[in-house]
Amino acid sequence: MKINENYLKLQDSYLFSMIGSKVRAFEAENPGSDIIRLGIGDVTRPLPEAVIGAMLKAVEEMSAEKTFRGYPPEYGYDFLREKIRDNDYAARGIDIEIDEIFVSDGAKSDTGNIGDIFSAENTVAICDPVYPVYIDTNVMGGRAGELTKDGLWSDVTYLHCSPENNFLPELPKKAADLIYLCFPNNPTGMGITADGLKQWVDYANEHGSIILYDSAYEAYITEDLPHSIFEIEGAKNCAIEFRSFSKTAGFTGVRCAYTVVPRELEVGGVSLNKLWARRQATKFNGVSYITQRGAEAVYSQEGKAQVRATVNYYLNNAKIIEEGLRSSGFKTWGGVNSPYVWMKTPEGLSSWEFFDLLLKKAGVVGTPGAGFGPAGEGFFRLTAFNSAEKTQQAVERIKNSF
Ligand code: MLT
Repeated sequence: MKINENYLKLQDSYLFSMIGSKVRAFEAENPGSDIIRLGIGDVTRPLPEAVIGAMLKAVEEMSAEKTFRGYPPEYGYDFLREKIRDNDYAARGIDIEIDEIFVSDGAKSDTGNIGDIFSAENTVAICDPVYPVYIDTNVMGGRAGELTKDGLWSDVTYLHCSPENNFLPELPKKAADLIYLCFPNNPTGMGITADGLKQWVDYANEHGSIILYDSAYEAYITEDLPHSIFEIEGAKNCAIEFRSFSKTAGFTGVRCAYTVVPRELEVGGVSLNKLWARRQATKFNGVSYITQRGAEAVYSQEGKAQVRATVNYYLNNAKIIEEGLRSSGFKTWGGVNSPYVWMKTPEGLSSWEFFDLLLKKAGVVGTPGAGFGPAGEGFFRLTAFNSAEKTQQAVERIKNSF
């Protein structure tokens, strides 16, 4: 009897679980402390009214024999896939068909599970700092090698991001089979231009790489940046895109997302669309009817306006953080096309030292940059997902504490 020993290579707990337990321990030692949470990127605004209305109606349908639904279609109801096709793709001049869209319970699960359809022998290129799911799931899948003493995995090609390249990765020197990109970026909040993204698409097509493109934060784009990698010519031959309703429509607790695997995408003559369909049909039983009706309502006229209002609310918080910190001399990135503000830690503090001090002195929770990889050391991430009032308070407290 043997276990998957790759799991033993992982750190004891997932980044956000570790932060959660540290904050709970602090609260237990300091009862009544007034903590402001700008740590995990979890939304706080209620679901849009249009979504609630649609979900209530769907619940009603489930209560009558005639309209009751059992298992959902494994790749999503057509009513939702059609809305996604029309609004997220056709409206931007992108030709995506509904059988290229796979509705799921989250971009975290999909970016984690996508490795199932690729050989463990594939090489991966991953940004540093990065959303830890891409690294951890490749460790689980046996593609990462061994953890070296500098905190890097021996078989991973790291795309180093730093103030020197404005936290935008450069093309890998060594060709990689799978390239993970996330724009607007988690954790740095930086966006990529169409020209910048085109370089990656061209590179992938030239080297036979597949880009795993996470665009969960596209709704936060305020500048002239691509919302989808499929806006770039040639991307359908080399990219898979992950999208989510979590940060857009407040679905972090409801769970609904989708992944686009173009029909053109093949490896050695094998369709990745067919492989992903096979994987999902076997291991996943679909997203509930009620949830998908809620997601569909995101694309109604009222839904769109309500989602826009919520996203703008968070964007305003990001502005409060970014401008507040910058005007007090902190160095910051992101926050313009993203709900995340990335800052340099003050006074030469390491990112975990700053985390501890910030919690103690200011009662503010953020995420230490080092949790996103060694290149995140000396940086810190704050999210815009709290109330405007609490966000303002947090900024004042940070300014007064450092
Ligand atoms: C984050 O804080 O980075 C997000 O919550 C990650 C996620 O969406 O899983």
